[in-house]
Order: sequence, then structure tokens, then C-alpha cells
Amino acid sequence: MNINLQYTKHFVSETELAHITQKAIEANKLLHAGTGKGNDFLGWINLPNEITDEFLDQIQAKANELRSKIDVMITVGIGGSYLGAKAVIDSLSDSFVAYNQTKPAMIYAGHNIGEDYMVELRNFLKDKSFAVTVISKSGTTTEPAIAFRILKADLEAKYGKKEAQSRIVAVTDEARGALKTLANQENYQTYVIPDNVGGRYSVLTPVGLFPIAVAGFDIKALVRGAQDMAKTTAENSDKNPAVVYAAMRNALYNKEFNIEILVNYHPKLHFMAEWWKQLYGESEGKDGKGIFTAAVDFSTDLHSLGQYIQDGRRNLFETVISVGEQKYELCVPKTDDDLDKLNYLAGRRIDDINKNAELGTVLAHVEGGVPNIKIEIPKVDEYNIGALIYFFEKGCGISGYVLDVNPFDQPGVEAYKRNMFALLGKPGTEAERAKLLGK
Ligand code: PA5
Repeated sequence: MNINLQYTKHFVSETELAHITQKAIEANKLLHAGTGKGNDFLGWINLPNEITDEFLDQIQAKANELRSKIDVMITVGIGGSYLGAKAVIDSLSDSFVAYNQTKPAMIYAGHNIGEDYMVELRNFLKDKSFAVTVISKSGTTTEPAIAFRILKADLEAKYGKKEAQSRIVAVTDEARGALKTLANQENYQTYVIPDNVGGRYSVLTPVGLFPIAVAGFDIKALVRGAQDMAKTTAENSDKNPAVVYAAMRNALYNKEFNIEILVNYHPKLHFMAEWWKQLYGESEGKDGKGIFTAAVDFSTDLHSLGQYIQDGRRNLFETVISVGEQKYELCVPKTDDDLDKLNYLAGRRIDDINKNAELGTVLAHVEGGVPNIKIEIPKVDEYNIGALIYFFEKGCGISGYVLDVNPFDQPGVEAYKRNMFALLGKPGTEAERAKLLGK
């Protein structure tokens, strides 16, 4: 991986960058020393090196057992308990996996409260062999708890209690919470989310690893990528890519560029950006501070948001995930009549055209006043995605410390929950409910 800062030069001086890079190096030291804010949630730092092959083999064995008998795996979870798995699985999957016979199809639930979504899911599952992975660290989050209640009952009705138990895998806290209690009672295969790893930093725990293994991807290669990146980003120097990224985004933030758009040119990476939005948005958006995280899929969104990015309010910067190689090759065909005047492209690879779209866009946006950071990865495979995940996690921890916030808590997420519970009439919230209804 390479972080290319060539397209940020006109926006941040070398002196400014050197100053903030020093702060980022100090932040990296603080993370490793474990003495900064939120230091009881630093388990993700050494996580890749603590994962043993035996542990991955155990996960793979259970995944294989289910893969051999199911058409569909439903992963139930929300936020950090599903986005990482979906990001990795989508990045590595064939784009049309949902429409072909590859087994098992990976479907998600408990990440919304859509009634039609649940009814349609249940209808879809009627003639399918399915299993459920339920993921919740707290074990009490409303959205997944509702979805799991429904799917558990469906599994039991379809297969009987015993077989249903073998088709449910729980990923939750080691000792606490309603899901842990239920998993013990029902004897579900259970994997632990370590106490010191928060939801959005948990992809490399069974939260991500188990669904990724069920989807058929090489979790050992994924972990190897993360291990190598953990080594690279442990370095306290201005060569550390996580330091470079964290320093530049903070330097830009200090110049009022307070919206960061993660850009991809490959539709498979869409959910990588959804995961990244949560990671950085939830980690940094607090105490009245933080960069607002947004994302676009190019060239698709050049035809929708391109105008604003080129020409709108100048408080945006872009971070482009730039991919070196594609898996397949396809060239533009030649036609005799050349009606669409594309024969000048005949014989050129689609990816060559995409790369020119990328360069043309970067140059245009920079010219229009939008700094661009480029994250260059060789290709999209398990190893490089594992490395990218860890890189973003490390960059986020460093960046949060440079911003001087606690990047590992999320106190703001509770406000909507309090209101929702009171409005729903949860026992004990009567006074709050009356106050809300008065509004
Ligand atoms: O990052 C986080 O902590 C959150 O996104 C949580 O993962 C999310 O709210 C789900 O929580 P839980 O796993 O406790 O159900």
C-alpha cells in the first residue's frame, strides 16, 4: 500500500504537515503505550498477532459444516456488528453472486427495523435451507434482538429445536448480556468479542471472521494482511502510512476541510466505505469536533454528486481508494460503423478507461479546490483487504488522538435510543415519555 499525497500539495504547506506529522507519531506512541483516552478499548491493536491458526481452523470448521448444508446464511447485527463482515464479503465476492447458484448466499438482518424487509426475508427463506449468525456485543441492541427473535422462531418451526440450535451461531460478550445467557441455555456455538475491542474495530474478531469464512473466503490470508500492516504501522516514523493519512486529514481539517469523501472506482468497494464511515464518523464526531464522513462510488456518482464536488462549497476533501490490478480482463470491441465514435478505444481494457476516469477526476477536483489523498492498493484480495482494514483502524486511532477526542467511545449514540424506548413505553421511562410527547 502506498499513500500518495501529490494531490494535496497546494493545500497544506510542508511546515504545517511536518508539525502535524510529529503529533501523529506521538499519537501512535500513545496508542501503543496504552495510556491515552479510551485505553480500555485498545485490544484491536495487537489483535492480528494474537490470532492463532488453530483458532482460525476452528472457525473454518464450523463455517464448513454450515456451508455444506445451507443455501443462505443470515448475519444478524447492526453497526460494528455487521458492517465489517459485509464490507469484506462484498469486496471479495463476484458482483452477481446474489443471482447465481453459489452457496451460501450471504444476507443481513437486524440492521434496520423495516417491517416489509423482515416479511420479505421470511418469505424468501421459506423454501431455503438457512442458518443464522447473531452478533451483538451487548446482547441487548433492539434491532438485531427483534430480528433474531423472529428468525430463531422460524428456524425452530422449520427444523425443530435441536437442529435449529446447530444452525445458530452467537458472537457476543464472554460473560455478560442477554445473548450470552441465551447462547448458554440453548448450547449454541458461541464466539467471543473481546471486552477490549469496540464494535467498529471488531472485524478481525469472530464478528467478521466467522461470516467471512462462511462466505468462502480465506480468513488466514485476511489475517496475514492485517498482521503485516500491524507491523508496518507500529513504526514511529513519517513513513508509517497510518501516520501519513492521519496527519494529512487533520492538516486539512485545520484548514476548514471538514468533510471527507471516501471515493472508490469499483462497485464492490461500496460497503468498504460504509464501514469506514462508521469507523471514522463514530470515533471522531464528538465534543463539537470531527470530520464528517461521506462516500461516493465513481464513476456512477460523478453523474450525480460530481457537480457539487467540482463546484460547490469548498469544505470537502477526497480520499481515493485506488486499485492497481483487476481480476479479469475485458477490452472495448471494434465496430464497423463506429456510430458511437468509440473505435479510438477499441482493444483498450475497460480498466484502462476507468483509470483514466480516475486520473481525470482527481486532476479536475484538485483544480476545483478539492484536495485528494490517494490510497493505492495493488489489488482487491483477502490479503490486501485485511491490510486495508487494519490500516484504517490504525489511522483512525491516531487521527482521533491528534484531534484530542476519545476515538473508542460513542456516547452520542444513546440519545435516540433513550427517546425511542420512552416513546415505545419501556417500563421505567414514563416521565421521559410524557416530556417527549409534550414536545
Ligand atoms: O461500534 C459500535 O460500538 C456500534 O456500532 C455497535 O457495534 C452497534 O451499536 C451494535 O452493538 P452490539 O454489538 O452491542 O449489538
